[in-house]
Amino acid sequence: MPTCRFWRLNRHPEGNTGFDRFLSLEEETLSPLAAGEVRVAVEYLSMDAGTRMWMTPRTDGYQPPLPLGAKMVGLVLGRVIESNDPAFAPGALVRGFGQWADIATLVPALSGLEVVDDSIADPLQHFGALGMNAWTAYVGVQEVAAVKPGEWLAVSAAAGATGSLACQVGRNLGAKVVGIAGGAEKCRYLLDDLGVDMAIDYRAEDVSARLAQVPGGLNAFFDNVGGPVLDAVLRNMAHYGRVAICGMVAGYDSDVALPGPASFDQVLMRRLRIEGFFIPDFLERGAQFLPQLRAWMDAGKLTMRFDETQGLENVLVAYERMLTGKNIGKVVVKL
Ligand SMILES: NC(=O)c1ccc[n+]([C@@H]2O[C@H](COP(=O)([O-])OP(=O)(O)OC[C@H]3O[C@@H](n4cnc5c(N)ncnc54)[C@H](OP(=O)(O)O)[C@@H]3O)[C@@H](O)[C@H]2O)c1
Repeated sequence: MPTCRFWRLNRHPEGNTGFDRFLSLEEETLSPLAAGEVRVAVEYLSMDAGTRMWMTPRTDGYQPPLPLGAKMVGLVLGRVIESNDPAFAPGALVRGFGQWADIATLVPALSGLEVVDDSIADPLQHFGALGMNAWTAYVGVQEVAAVKPGEWLAVSAAAGATGSLACQVGRNLGAKVVGIAGGAEKCRYLLDDLGVDMAIDYRAEDVSARLAQVPGGLNAFFDNVGGPVLDAVLRNMAHYGRVAICGMVAGYDSDVALPGPASFDQVLMRRLRIEGFFIPDFLERGAQFLPQLRAWMDAGKLTMRFDETQGLENVLVAYERMLTGKNIGKVVVKL
């Protein structure tokens, strides 16, 4: 049998740097494929901030912690090389939750495995304008935040994968968009490339003071971050505003929950609606989102900048880049 390299979680990480203290690259001989399993030669790995939470011992997250000693998991894009499921023929281009490995072994029903459109000129768009981050942006902005034309939408971690798409979905739906991100280069990207109406560098500027300039206040907020950014936004929402809680990346490196916002009373004072959402709950609705995402992509109205690292052995470099905010757009690893 062939061998396969994979990343193993040995200890719960501390912080967002030096991951090689906690994970190691291992090699094993592949065992024969079990009934119902599918084997995929991984071409790209998606680096997703939410996976950082799975590495903690927290049992109150949206999914159980990854056991120590387990293979690290994440979204993979690649081709089927062996299959015990007739829906996934060898050669098919597929995406699903697999392992950080050269070859991922998946059970389709447990991993959200799906065959993706092989005719797309740039297959990486299955991690971009047509990927899970795009579905997240679409559901969060359109359904949860229920953004209407002419309204003001704020997006945090706005220059990252999910945030940059949320900004564009908001803009495409006719909203005025405020992007909040770390650093001047990201703010330039938001203004010049994504066409947002206002960009705020939360590392250098007073977020609350800048948001106070939004006429009438913010009608909607797509939050990827939590913590002080959420606090600043709540104080600047319009009455009857909607807050879509997509992520809380400011707290993923901690073993305890991120504290709630000090200005939570504004939920009552301004009659706000706050709702969390989680894209795996929407997976079966993919066919509904894709035509709109595809149309925007083809029209150049939904773009993704990629931050690409080469080689399975460099996964931790890419992962750290994402969690420490070195990225603009989507962080991927090409195998
Ligand atoms: N609900 C769902 O189903 C769902 C699905 C996909 C993603 N998400 C969420 O979307 C968010 C973004 O994830 P992603 O995978 O697309 O990653 P990403 O935005 O491409 O990268 C993470 C970004 O988070 C920002 N960040 C890190 N620590 C921060 C802090 N303490 N305060 C403020 N910003 C911080 C950094 O940007 P800055 O330089 O701007 O700080 C960094 O670029 C995460 O919260 C993730 O959980 C949720």
